[in-house]
Amino acid sequence: MKRISFWVLLLTCAGIAAGLFLATTGNAEYGDIVLNSKSESMQKAGVNPVVFPHWFHRIRFKCKVCHEDIFIIKKGANDINMTKIMNGDFCGRCHNGLIAWEPLYCDRCHSYRPENDKPAPPPQP
Ligand code: HEC
Ligand code: HEC
Ligand code: HEC
Repeated sequence: MKRISFWVLLLTCAGIAAGLFLATTGNAEYGDIVLNSKSESMQKAGVNPVVFPHWFHRIRFKCKVCHEDIFIIKKGANDINMTKIMNGDFCGRCHNGLIAWEPLYCDRCHSYRPENDKPAPPPQP
């Protein structure tokens, strides 16, 4: 009996910790991917890092539309820049004014706000 309640308690704590982790580390929605490997050029151009809403796209397209013809299936593994996008590569395969809106509305993609990333609260006793 004692053993069982110990495990229940432990699992409950782990569950709460995981919940806190998900609630505090996410920027906006679960499933968003922040693209920030070109942070220096983006800062210079005065745009924020990119938030790619993975879930939004996943429910509209089959995985194989993007993986791996357009994007290598690993966070940070794709060397993306605006010239390539404007030339119809990467996001520009669809964001070309035909399948989706053109890459002219900078803030729709460059939408990351650092203030959304709050430090995790101290562990609860
Ligand atoms: C519209 C295009 C698109 C579709 C559709 C899509 N993905 Fe992705 N996926 C991306 C992009 C962009 C990235 C980020 C790549 C990067 O960081 O360079 C990514 C990253 C990933 C990653 C790596 C995440 C990580 O943390 O390393 C996985 C796994 C993944 N996708 C799985 C899927 C699965 C499974 C599906 C289908 C249910 C899917 N994707 C559909 C565009 C897409
Ligand atoms: C396979 C096609 C495809 C690719 C590739 C693609 N998108 Fe999209 N994206 C779409 C479509 C379709 C929409 C919906 C357009 C609409 O509602 O008019 C969309 C919408 C969006 C939105 C708006 C989401 C919302 O909540 O309204 C953002 C932001 C976005 N895309 C960013 C990106 C970024 C960044 C990339 C590259 C990393 C990318 N997309 C690559 C097809 C694509
Ligand atoms: C469809 C989504 C999308 C739109 C719209 C968009 N960008 Fe980007 N942009 C990206 C992605 C994805 C990257 C790569 C980010 C990374 O990997 O660090 C990027 C990278 C950049 C970079 C750094 C790389 C480079 O090319 O120098 C700059 C600067 C930039 N964007 C400026 C802009 C400006 C200015 C606009 C509006 C005219 C704009 N972007 C519109 C998705 C977009």
